[in-house]
Amino acid sequence: MAKQFILDLIKAMTLEEKAAQLTQLSPNYFDEKTSVTLTGPYRNFDLTKEMIQNAGSVLGCVDAETYCKIQDAYLKKNRHHIPLLFMADIIHGMKTIFPIPLAIGGSFDLKLCEESAQIAAKEASVTGLHVTFSPMADLVRDPRWGRVMESPGEDPYLNSEMTRAMVRGYQGKDLKEPGRLAACVKHFAAYGAGDGGREYNTVDLSRGMLKEYYLPAYRAAVEENVALIMTSFNTIERVPSTGNPWLLREVLRKEWGFRGVTISDFNSLDEIINHSIATDSKEAAKKGIVSGLDIEMMSACYVTCLPELVRTGEIKEEWIDEAVLRILELKDQLGLFENPYKDADHSGAERIWLCEKHRKAARKLAGESAVLLKNNNVLPLSKANKKDLKIGIAGPFAESKQVLGGWAGQGENKDAISLADGIRTVLGNDNVVTAMTQELQERLTGFLDVKDETKEAVKALKDCDIILAAVGEHPGDSGEAASKTYLRLSKNQEKLIHELKELSKPVIVIVFAGRPMEIEPILDDCDALIYGWFLGTEMGNALTDLLFGKVNPSGRLSISIPHTVGQIPVYYNCFQTGRPYQGMSPQERFASRYIDCENSPLYPFGYGLSYSNFVYSNLSVWTDPEKRGARASVLVKNCSDRDGTVVVQLYIRDITASVVRPVKELKGFQRIWLTAGEQKEISFKITEEMLKYYNNKEEFIFEAGEFEIMIGDNSEQLLKEKIIIQ
Ligand code: BGC
Repeated sequence: MAKQFILDLIKAMTLEEKAAQLTQLSPNYFDEKTSVTLTGPYRNFDLTKEMIQNAGSVLGCVDAETYCKIQDAYLKKNRHHIPLLFMADIIHGMKTIFPIPLAIGGSFDLKLCEESAQIAAKEASVTGLHVTFSPMADLVRDPRWGRVMESPGEDPYLNSEMTRAMVRGYQGKDLKEPGRLAACVKHFAAYGAGDGGREYNTVDLSRGMLKEYYLPAYRAAVEENVALIMTSFNTIERVPSTGNPWLLREVLRKEWGFRGVTISDFNSLDEIINHSIATDSKEAAKKGIVSGLDIEMMSACYVTCLPELVRTGEIKEEWIDEAVLRILELKDQLGLFENPYKDADHSGAERIWLCEKHRKAARKLAGESAVLLKNNNVLPLSKANKKDLKIGIAGPFAESKQVLGGWAGQGENKDAISLADGIRTVLGNDNVVTAMTQELQERLTGFLDVKDETKEAVKALKDCDIILAAVGEHPGDSGEAASKTYLRLSKNQEKLIHELKELSKPVIVIVFAGRPMEIEPILDDCDALIYGWFLGTEMGNALTDLLFGKVNPSGRLSISIPHTVGQIPVYYNCFQTGRPYQGMSPQERFASRYIDCENSPLYPFGYGLSYSNFVYSNLSVWTDPEKRGARASVLVKNCSDRDGTVVVQLYIRDITASVVRPVKELKGFQRIWLTAGEQKEISFKITEEMLKYYNNKEEFIFEAGEFEIMIGDNSEQLLKEKIIIQ
């Protein structure tokens, strides 16, 4: 039941005031002196003073002073004293920056992921912010798309669990609690499935694919009581999400019972005109409100057209009232009617930003997110045999602090620990030599490579005991509007690695990137390879912990790394074809495969090495006689002299069903700490829910029959057992 004072407010508001309440504008509309960084096309909407005076929310204001100034002035002018709602993108940290979400996904550490969101919320809330446009729950399969960096990866289950953890971390139990933010899950729906990985491109998926793979993570956020959901730029079944009544009313509200606020993406309501499902702003406004879109971000169809649409009888006023109600309820849940300044605290930044506790959490999560992909026994490094071990680091990321990744809140490069600085804390300044450290330029500027100083680099590092190559892509090359077709390292970086190999010293490559890159061409030239993503403020310390074995690697791939761009999309939970390739001879031509490349990726989902050696055995599976379901257990032994964490993964395949089922699906995982030599029995409960799927009538059903239960170290190395469940 809505609170009476909110219903009274709605009654007292004019149509114009209500339409403005549904509008979100950047801070410069309220205070011309505010400088803004916009994330989409800017147009001046020619709004009247009254429209601005009654607008409901602000996009992208993240400092306490401006916040208070805008809120103050606004409340003086707004005749109902309805406070403004402030929203911004706090994606993987505010000032203390955590790894990019794609890397966090690979930590499989839900607790720490939740803590990272909680810290981000705490650091952001002192600026007065109320809502963060996070988590991004878009399932991703195409590393050409720049925004893969913002997603927890290619798997619906991992994606859902990570999304839940983030919502819990931001929101806590009560939005009024100090240090909490309302979360806005995005981009509903399937924004990650754009054709060819091209940004803002068409999405065309069957309903089965949508329900099976793409929708579960948004739904998980709804189940976790996420406060808002943002629509995506793309089409769903040929209708843009922002004006899609099936998606917003049928699926989101009716089927999932979502009671929170829906918001468009930047200008995306207006863009349905470009999509050609509306001829002008008026029709766009109508389609938006009919579809159930509450807030229009950074376009002005609602504020300029809704009142007239009601007066001419083209839309019902109650649709507008419903949207206003939801927005006012959110303001109430945040406690803004009692305290419109919420947690804004001018000295808060100084006290908590980058404090020791937050940096410590960022270092831990960064250490758990980097993935060791290759190790010919050169890692971990040890000073035991050589006191004055000398390390040479070459490449654009050797001294670089540009390691925060896109959407890094208010994070500043200067606060980040570079790789070389991290290593200097262990070896001292004299034992770290760097070379060819020119920073990479963004592709946007047209200059794609670093200067070729390979000769000088090889010479400079020739007396070092160990060589590190710190290579990758510019952080600006991933994120929004950063789709690429070329995923190899730049030519000079590949050349650098190749020639460093000639020094006949162990070469360890660390790749910094916001997406899987084509690393096969450099694999033979390195003795070890760590996928370092963009690990945030504590990158240098975290990688140093891993390199010297203070931390044993446990990170896994949240997305497959392809052999070549031509394989994309390549993902583990695919369907089996009618002509599956089963390793037959090349003469047997007519199978589903490439003639010049394997079907499987270079490194599969879930893959990641450790300095320990974990051995799996004794998989047993038995049915649960009381319920429809089963149990499975496996022995995992740490056959090494090093303690470590292993991510035990459970996959299931429904062998025969009425529609084609994936060859395997992740259904559970456990991060387990095993001391040297320790063995543990790890067991999983397999519930009926885990065995269900959407049939072609959109029913979520269980079908009795044979299932394959698989447990192991990654999506390819698995012990398997079949079981019949009735
Ligand atoms: C992005 C969203 C973001 C919004 C607001 C858009 O361009 O697609 O992810 O939340 O801008 O900054």
